Amino acid sequence: MSNAKLSGEVYYPSKEILEKAHIKDWDELNEYATNNNEAFWEEKANELHWFEKWNKVLDDSDKPFYKWFVGGKTNIAYNCLDIHIKTSRRNKLALIWEGENGEGKTMSYFALHREACKFGNVLKSLGVKKGDRVTIYMGRIPEIVIAMLACARVGAIHSVVYGGFSVESLAERIEDSNSRVLIVSDGAYQRGKIVPLKQIADEALQRCGTVEHCVVVKRTGAEVNMEFGRDMWYNELMNLPQASRECSLEQMDAEDPLFILYTSGTTGKPKAILHTHGGYMVGTYTSLKYVFDIQEEDRYWCAADPGWITGHSYIVYGPLLTGTTSFMYEGAPNFPYPNRWWAMIEKYGINILYTAPTAIRGLMRFGESWVNRHDLSSLRLLGSVGEPINPEAWKWYHRVVGKEKCPIMDTWWQTETGMFMITPLPCVPLKPGSGTKPFPGIVMDVVDEKGKSVKANEEGYLVIKTPWPAMIRTVWKDPERYVQQYWSKYPGVYLTGDSVRRDEDGYYWIIGRVDDVIKVSGYRLGTAEIESALVSHSAVAEAAAIGLPHEVKGNAIYAYVILKAGAVKTNTLTEELRQHVSHEVGPIAKPEHIEIVDSLPKTRSGKIMRRVLKARALGQDPGNISTLEE
Ligand code: WTA
Repeated sequence: MSNAKLSGEVYYPSKEILEKAHIKDWDELNEYATNNNEAFWEEKANELHWFEKWNKVLDDSDKPFYKWFVGGKTNIAYNCLDIHIKTSRRNKLALIWEGENGEGKTMSYFALHREACKFGNVLKSLGVKKGDRVTIYMGRIPEIVIAMLACARVGAIHSVVYGGFSVESLAERIEDSNSRVLIVSDGAYQRGKIVPLKQIADEALQRCGTVEHCVVVKRTGAEVNMEFGRDMWYNELMNLPQASRECSLEQMDAEDPLFILYTSGTTGKPKAILHTHGGYMVGTYTSLKYVFDIQEEDRYWCAADPGWITGHSYIVYGPLLTGTTSFMYEGAPNFPYPNRWWAMIEKYGINILYTAPTAIRGLMRFGESWVNRHDLSSLRLLGSVGEPINPEAWKWYHRVVGKEKCPIMDTWWQTETGMFMITPLPCVPLKPGSGTKPFPGIVMDVVDEKGKSVKANEEGYLVIKTPWPAMIRTVWKDPERYVQQYWSKYPGVYLTGDSVRRDEDGYYWIIGRVDDVIKVSGYRLGTAEIESALVSHSAVAEAAAIGLPHEVKGNAIYAYVILKAGAVKTNTLTEELRQHVSHEVGPIAKPEHIEIVDSLPKTRSGKIMRRVLKARALGQDPGNISTLEE
């Protein structure tokens, strides 16, 4: 950036990094993209394939229901696969996969295209049509990518449910999306054990009645129940004549839905965020290419899970759109030893590593010697996502993993934004703990309660002031909630739900969520989901969940429960309640600690004041409690 004098601790990009970088002058690009926003995105869209070009880049006639590339016809799967097999990328590796148990698999663009076509035909043979929803519930295996691309190809809307979610979460998502088809794996390896995904799915299917066909991918060989007439093996279907290699592709309208992805919000049940074929494609492609400076020879590793937005945008779609080689690892970072990740980086010659602060902090605990055993000289860029990265973890990542030569791209974004929103590019000077500035052309602000911009270094609400192509289009089946949740606090402005501070250099420092969302190890959970799981237990009358700071996880869940009359407070009961949450929502939601209490702080209108609980737990002053009932 041109303003060479920046405050605080600053890391400037090296000559080597600048030489390689697609973008060498951030200010210049930002000025262009801000002042010519539609032209900028149109140029990016033109780098991809369209069956028919749009007649309008941005239609804002029905705010906040923005439309991008109106009238354009494309298909994201075509741009991920078909495009490449017509070029020298045909035999390039699209995917390198390693199982936790050491098994491995690679797939070229040609092979991935073939499998996605075959599975597209399987879906068609099961009656899946354009616009139908298909739920996918699997571990990190290549078939999850194949399944997502096959859906996109035939125009079905995929709804991926993270494999770390459990019975009730899965049931609720299948039911809400009204999926007739479920694709599941028999299980997933995690820390040497098998997570029984099919068994969890069976239990979920008993609670919801929409699924007619369940396709089961064999991964672990665990014994599973196959219900006659409903359950079919993936391998057997892929060997039938119906699963031919020629699969006609749906030409999708730019605004046709590509997927829905459930995420936790302020109140109530998780909501499904809807993304489209056109704008989402342009946004993920451009942002990945510029932020991680994708080069033809790169091997790129995003260590997230495909079941979250990071995996959707930056394991599946972004990397394939840019034609890169992506690495995917199935299991836990420290299995069987804490050098697992570093060994794989060395083995496969990974150039870009993109992960979450919680993983860095977790691996940091084992000490440097585990890292230093391996040659990590292939690494060029590092990335971070999901929660604020504390400067200590940033510096360890930079020094020990990146050997002080790899810039860290700390990317702030959300399920709703679809793409990176606050992020450095490799040419941008870095400050540990800050995601630097908005992506070129994205206009953000930090505002107070009334919507007025706050001064430098003051805390405020993070808002986005202009539309962008990969933005959420609506909440599935609930457009009112879309308007209410994101566009009503400040009309015409998108509310992120985060609080932030912007320093004198215009660098953003994320503080955290200001709503009832808790980020645990980077995973997004809602207090409402945890509380409703707790009250579904026969001994619980009322519950409140909060997030408290945790050294590795960022936040840990603490829950407070009031028992029903007659239930007896014992240690076994609290353990049973923790297990119950794990069984209903998923192991990631299991409270760190449950306290049985006689009452909960509430407002006079009966709303639980989590703020007061939090202050009490932290030994802090609860602040204004004038609305407290007692
Ligand atoms: C948080 C994940 C600080 C933030 C891509 C946001 C971050 C929420 C960062 C969205 C970051 C994400 N620094 N905080 N680099 N990235 N967050 O929808 O609170 O799972 O609102 O999307 O994660 O979580 P989601």
